[in-house]
Amino acid sequence: MARIIRQEESRIENTLDLIAAENHAPRSIFEAQGSIFSTKAAEGYPGRRFHAGCIHADELESLAIARAKRLFGAEHANLQPHSGVSANLAVYFSVLDVGDRILTMKLSHGGHLSHGDPSSITSRCFNFKHYGLNLKTERIDYDEVKELAHSFNPRMIVAGASSYPRLIDYEKMAEIARSVSAYFMVDMAHIAGLVAAGVIPGPVPHADFVTFTTYKTLNGGRGGVILCRQEHAQKISKTVFPGAQGTPSLNLLAAKAVCFQLALEPAFKERQKKTLENAAAFAAGFEKKGYRTVTGGTDNHLVLVDLRSKDLTGVVAEKTLESVGIIVNRNVIPGDPQKPDITSGIRIGSPGITTRGMAAQEVAQIVNLMDTAMLNNKHQDVLENVSLKIADLCRRFPVYKT
Ligand SMILES: Cc1ncc(COP(=O)(O)O)c(C=O)c1O
Repeated sequence: MARIIRQEESRIENTLDLIAAENHAPRSIFEAQGSIFSTKAAEGYPGRRFHAGCIHADELESLAIARAKRLFGAEHANLQPHSGVSANLAVYFSVLDVGDRILTMKLSHGGHLSHGDPSSITSRCFNFKHYGLNLKTERIDYDEVKELAHSFNPRMIVAGASSYPRLIDYEKMAEIARSVSAYFMVDMAHIAGLVAAGVIPGPVPHADFVTFTTYKTLNGGRGGVILCRQEHAQKISKTVFPGAQGTPSLNLLAAKAVCFQLALEPAFKERQKKTLENAAAFAAGFEKKGYRTVTGGTDNHLVLVDLRSKDLTGVVAEKTLESVGIIVNRNVIPGDPQKPDITSGIRIGSPGITTRGMAAQEVAQIVNLMDTAMLNNKHQDVLENVSLKIADLCRRFPVYKT
């Protein structure tokens, strides 16, 4: 196991991580995750535990909650969900009954599995309908959302996505939800760091519930969080524990507390600004080389590149890029004629390379190298040359200095 961990450390240092859902957490996060809090059982909440010996556990969880509320300006925070999907499930089950109607974004247009995709157990518990993007603008069609809300009459409307490069108009979505007396939930897993830093608008003032994960743009450890209005606090608490989970992972709660403190500091805001700048530089770079980007650019940390103008598929691009040390994922583009395991696109995220300290100049170099590798995916000598340049970039911008 020690060997495998060392090899993973080496892989992280020696490759460029362009997965939009990932980032490079600082060592302080790992210290908290690997701390003595890994072993304590603490069913319940601060001051109301079902195990003795929780004096420090209570202090830890209260501190983490206070930081989360301060960071996002939320009335209530529950930090116990083990993951983003667990957080979403807890929200659904807190105020809905099995079989209730929920309106969410289609997976193939950028939504998430846990938003009622047929492959997710969420779809067996609730009755989902999906809104999509306007295929001309590739943006959310709020008129369609409104129409569907009125014909379907959902009890909850969900906004939020895993591959949507534009901002979401939460105010408009909240208004639509109100007009049909539906709850409004936002899953901001991908963009939580950008929202925390205030570099893009956040959903907290508009939504009944906001869920997110701490390990993407937010750059903490793994885990999920639910923010909600005070009026829903008790239902959320009961649904998470004892409803859906048992003991909380206190070590992960400790890491969340560290993550929120780091996110409250000025350096974090600067980095999130650079994350946006670098994503915009990726979009501009690919457009300049004759690739189409979905929506013609980005407002957040990710870019969806349509590879069809170069006769490439997502799967070929993903494999070729991995072979030279660039980690991206293939991704369907809206209206994709290819199946999800092939795809016509790749999703590129800027958080990882921004955390390494890279800026627009390096992004331009990375775009060049990606283009060269993808277009020469059968030319081993070209690929070897690209690999050397990627290795050099990685050495110049280490993830962990020690
Ligand atoms: C929008 C969205 N929600 C939820 C999740 C799920 O988070 P987890 O994998 O931690 O359950 C993701 C993860 O990629 C996501 O993109």
